[in-house]
Amino acid sequence: MMTGATGFLGIHLLPHLLTRHDRIIALGRASPRSAKDRILSALEDIGQPLSVRTRADSALITVEADLTLPGLGLTSSTAQHLSQGLEAIWHSAASTALNGRPATLTATNVEGTRHVLELASAAPSAVVHHISTAFVAGRRRSGLMREDDPLPAAGFENLYEHSKSQAEHLVRDWAQRHHRIAAIYRPSVLVTDRSLAPSTPADPVRGMVTAFRLHRNQDDRVVIRAAGAPDGRINMIPVEQAARLITSLASRQPIEPGRVRASHITHTTDVPFQDVLRLLEVTHPVTFTLVPQKPSDPTPAEYLSYQIMRGYLPYAFHRRSYERASIQTAALDEDDATVIDTDYLLRGLTPAHRQISR
Ligand SMILES: NC(=O)c1ccc[n+]([C@@H]2O[C@H](COP(=O)([O-])OP(=O)(O)OC[C@H]3O[C@@H](n4cnc5c(N)ncnc54)[C@H](OP(=O)(O)O)[C@@H]3O)[C@@H](O)[C@H]2O)c1
Repeated sequence: MMTGATGFLGIHLLPHLLTRHDRIIALGRASPRSAKDRILSALEDIGQPLSVRTRADSALITVEADLTLPGLGLTSSTAQHLSQGLEAIWHSAASTALNGRPATLTATNVEGTRHVLELASAAPSAVVHHISTAFVAGRRRSGLMREDDPLPAAGFENLYEHSKSQAEHLVRDWAQRHHRIAAIYRPSVLVTDRSLAPSTPADPVRGMVTAFRLHRNQDDRVVIRAAGAPDGRINMIPVEQAARLITSLASRQPIEPGRVRASHITHTTDVPFQDVLRLLEVTHPVTFTLVPQKPSDPTPAEYLSYQIMRGYLPYAFHRRSYERASIQTAALDEDDATVIDTDYLLRGLTPAHRQISR
């Protein structure tokens, strides 16, 4: 069973899961027919061959469910029927808006995880694979983030991070209390250089570039002072590589009941935050100048930019690294030859988003 199959990561996990399981029940908000259609067309858009799409068409059972509802909105007989004989539950669905409404983030990410775990309680042989985020490390802006560091109790850059941290706590408590097998995967920012159709779920970078379009109406290039560290950097990993690593770890890691292991799913090389700003500079009529702190007298254009980027801007101060112990122990350290820079991110935009600024 999986949640979030219609999402950016979910659609990339699916081809791997199809090779491991005869049947996959995809829980999603859309009607079963439309969810299936969306999944099949997204699989084609991300380059999956006909054989995979045919397999998905026959092996995938889409069921309407909503994370935010008690019992996921399933009737008790449906829930009971679906939980019988389940081998695994992949929980990838989430609200990923960094500064989304607190009520939505809590209902989807925290309560939604609680509802998934309740279903898992009724499926005694199912292993729970929970997709978290490397950003549960919160406001620890420098140093090495170890996989078994305790989660910060407070101090998050945004509400999303906090909600994902609460969800991790739920998974750990549940596994310990019920002596169950669960694993946590923490990807960094998921990206792709494949230009996907607007209907296919995309990476957060495309979301940021789309939001920044408000600046396209300006006639002249404007200068925006952005607060950040000159050596600020952020970890990004190709979504294709992340899906490969997560599903490989799932089948290789020895997991003990009650003892939940968290694995960082990160790239060996970070992306300078200035490369992210450069992406906005080549797609919009703006120029960024890095300043040590947020100006107290923002111009109207700066004010607008800070509003649009408020979820992302704190990362301009980050210089932290992530331990990759799980990946290394499982000998999954791939040759990370992919260079993620402004050009890589630009290739991942649609032609409309790539429009060069004046
Ligand atoms: N994207 C990243 O850079 C990134 C980085 C680190 C970790 N993660 C984590 O990776 C996981 C997958 O993220 P993603 O990039 O695939 O996100 P996404 O593209 O925004 O997709 C979110 C998925 O969650 C589903 N969903 C949202 N609210 C729901 C609800 N109330 N009921 C049922 N399903 C609901 C969506 O369904 P609809 O299709 O109906 O909207 C969609 O399938 C998340 O747990 C996220 O926190 C993502």
